[in-house]
Amino acid sequence: MGEVSASLDDLPIRDDLRGMTPYGAPQAMLPITLNVNENTHPVPQEVADDILDAVALALRDVNRYPDREFTALREGFAEYLGYGLTRDQLWAANGSNEVLQHVLQAFGGPGRSAFGFSPTYSMYPLLARATGASWIAGHRDQDFSVDADSAAAQVEAADPDVVFLCAPNNPTGTPMSIDVIEAVYDAASGIVVVDEAYQEFAPRDEGSALMLLPGRERLVVSRTMSKAFAFAGARVGYLAADPAVIDALRLVRLPYHLSALTQAAATAALTHADTMLRMVDEIVAQRDRISATVEALGYDAYESWTNFVLFGGVEDSARTWQALYDAGVLIRDVGIPHHLRVTAGTEAETTAFLDALASIGSGS
Ligand SMILES: Cc1ncc(COP(=O)(O)O)c(C=O)c1O
Repeated sequence: MGEVSASLDDLPIRDDLRGMTPYGAPQAMLPITLNVNENTHPVPQEVADDILDAVALALRDVNRYPDREFTALREGFAEYLGYGLTRDQLWAANGSNEVLQHVLQAFGGPGRSAFGFSPTYSMYPLLARATGASWIAGHRDQDFSVDADSAAAQVEAADPDVVFLCAPNNPTGTPMSIDVIEAVYDAASGIVVVDEAYQEFAPRDEGSALMLLPGRERLVVSRTMSKAFAFAGARVGYLAADPAVIDALRLVRLPYHLSALTQAAATAALTHADTMLRMVDEIVAQRDRISATVEALGYDAYESWTNFVLFGGVEDSARTWQALYDAGVLIRDVGIPHHLRVTAGTEAETTAFLDALASIGSGS
């Protein structure tokens, strides 16, 4: 005791993990936390009551291992998603991060590669490298969009084993149209994952990549309950794909990876999808209010189909981030110079952010 502990370098750690830094969005206890794109609205009371009943029931059998195939939950997801999906096309895990990890364990791994259009979700390279796969960063246009021709050409040239299309994209909010996804699928020889973590915040009349699934056995569409469903703390993500892909994921998952309590809670929450999603319109309204107000303050807001806004024109993003922090508002410096990202909160939280931003001066 009292000795200086060893550093990672002193350990016989895998060579390919040396020098890596773990995912580390700050978890500061500030009054207003708008930094990790959570849904800041609590689960409605009537839904929470039902979830509690379901969990209480599951607790009676918690001495037994849970249903390894989480059958009821997969049926719930198939029904929620629609598009004629059936439970043999559904998979779930502890957050979509674990779902994506399963995909990479099955289709990535040593000697293989994964690809995404940068900047994109920061966990993709970490998840890929943790399985021993390399990460290839493609590029986007100045406004963070990517068109079908450029996307297909980049994917064809890189020929990765797994492509990640974050649609809409985190951290930029950028939409991705169905024709880009189709073009990338045709150009790819490997698995194409469309990460629709924020799909519920996109305009309702815009289609999901789920419509492309028939006849495309290398296509995977992932979703999460963490955002629109206000269920981040429960850790539930899922995907839809060809049943053969699901069979491949069974090879790499841990037995009983979804606890009986998680299955019960998520299945109960899904039966209240309409109520759970009630807040989406309110969040979209706050998102659009953020975009309009930061523009009026002299910043540049990027088009967003998500529950957050990336804004540019920030003279010194570290200084602005710190000034907001000091005012009790936590947002995210995503590492894009002169840009910051903020999650749309409740009306009161959003007002607190906008007031704080206004009080620290305008964009460059
Ligand atoms: C694009 C994207 N995918 C996946 C996730 C992971 O979500 P979870 O593991 O909570 O389902 C996030 C979380 O922020 C995300 O932004």
